[in-house]
Amino acid sequence: MNHLQVLLPKALLQSYEGFLLSDHEGRVFFANAAVEVISGVKLDQIIGKTPEEMQEDGLILKQSQRILQKNPLTIYQKLNTGRDVFITSKPIKDENGKVLCYASNYRDLKDLNMLFDEHLNYSKISFLELERLRESVTKTGGIMSISSVMQELKRLVEKIAKADATILILGESGTGKEVISKNIHSLSKRSDAPYIQINCGAIPENLIESELFGYEKGAFTGANTSKPGLLEVANHGTVLLDEIGEMPLHLQVKLLRAIQTNEITRVGGTAKKQLDVRYIAATNQDLKKRVQEGKFREDLFYRLNVVQVEVPPLRDRVEDIGYLGKYFLDRFNKKYNKQLVFSKRALSLLEQYEWPGNVRQLENMVEQLVILSEGPSITERNIPHEISRSQWKEEYSTTSIRPLKESIEEFEEVEIRKALQVYHSIRSAAKALGISHSTLLRKIKQYDIT
Ligand SMILES: Nc1ncnc2c1ncn2[C@@H]1O[C@H](COP(=O)(O)OP(=O)(O)OP(=O)(O)O)[C@@H](O)[C@H]1O
Ligand SMILES: [Mg+2]
Repeated sequence: MNHLQVLLPKALLQSYEGFLLSDHEGRVFFANAAVEVISGVKLDQIIGKTPEEMQEDGLILKQSQRILQKNPLTIYQKLNTGRDVFITSKPIKDENGKVLCYASNYRDLKDLNMLFDEHLNYSKISFLELERLRESVTKTGGIMSISSVMQELKRLVEKIAKADATILILGESGTGKEVISKNIHSLSKRSDAPYIQINCGAIPENLIESELFGYEKGAFTGANTSKPGLLEVANHGTVLLDEIGEMPLHLQVKLLRAIQTNEITRVGGTAKKQLDVRYIAATNQDLKKRVQEGKFREDLFYRLNVVQVEVPPLRDRVEDIGYLGKYFLDRFNKKYNKQLVFSKRALSLLEQYEWPGNVRQLENMVEQLVILSEGPSITERNIPHEISRSQWKEEYSTTSIRPLKESIEEFEEVEIRKALQVYHSIRSAAKALGISHSTLLRKIKQYDIT
């Protein structure tokens, strides 16, 4: 006991963890050297002060906040030394429950963040997946569409999300297969469990097996520790096997077994592990054709194809072009701090284009237009030739000449939008444009200006 009484204060004084004692008012009467190291503040500026007094001295910045009001109390403090610290305080009570003092631990947020990053780096692929996931959650509010085909597809998605069946999502590149898969997961009873997207085409062939199924220590050179595979990480959740057509033939048997039995064996291991995973597969390839060519196993194809969702290309749902175009415009306007709108003619050019790269191509195009357009409108002049040309070809064979009325209207629309942005009342905008109030109202309606 005596030994401990001597050791304890020494250990606290020399501990790497910041340790601090304060009285019932929060006035500090003891702090070890680590507090000075972590906070970058000399101990004599801390000892004898309450947190309020430290804030008055400018030591603790105002943005500091209480994280948890509970016991123990956790506070996040931003210090004028540029350090961010986490402090966890616990009241120390006597046997009657009277508070004797508060014991607090000081932790450097930078250290915590570093540990967190290290932890995430531990499994690089899962980290990338998490990033992608975070991005897709913030990027889209689900499946955006107004076309009737997509409304029907959304109803189908809602229905199949609830059933736990395997799903095969087909569709051209950029049609939104990943968006739909994520939506199925969010609407399912697994929504709180992990959603792991595995791009079968992007993982080097010699790594796929160990990434998917994990490995045991010593399974191959460099396997110094055991590691769970992505299927195991996704336990209780959903796995999207993206670009499934790229899955190497020799692994398809093992994958089929994993899906059929929901059991896996790590590479280099013998023990079977029972999983509870829902599988969704997606591809832009013609899987049936790959089966015929002998590149995809027929049994795996039928196992995946329990429920099929086919996402139509964007050119087959023209209503979505304008709708998604405006949705992306809104998003990129916010991102680049602009207030651009499409002119009617520009929008109709977009609607008449084929969009071989589907929604992804439209999204990229709108971002490019927002970056490059000076405003206030995105007009025909801003639309790249490869998009507008497809229409010219139809309408005017080789020339880009169009009816004068159209050019005049487009010019008129741009000028009206400009005037409405500069003058905040319709009356003064009309005056500046040299037209009557009622003419301007009529034109606003004609050009659908909101
Ligand atoms: N209905 C939609 N609503 C909102 N955004 C969408 C929609 N459909 C697609 N997108 C966006 O378009 C881009 C491409 O979608 P996604 O990645 O899901 O396509 P994909 O079908 O998986 O393409 P690929 O076959 O090339 O992998 C993404 O940025 C996605 O957010
Ligand atoms: Mg995809």
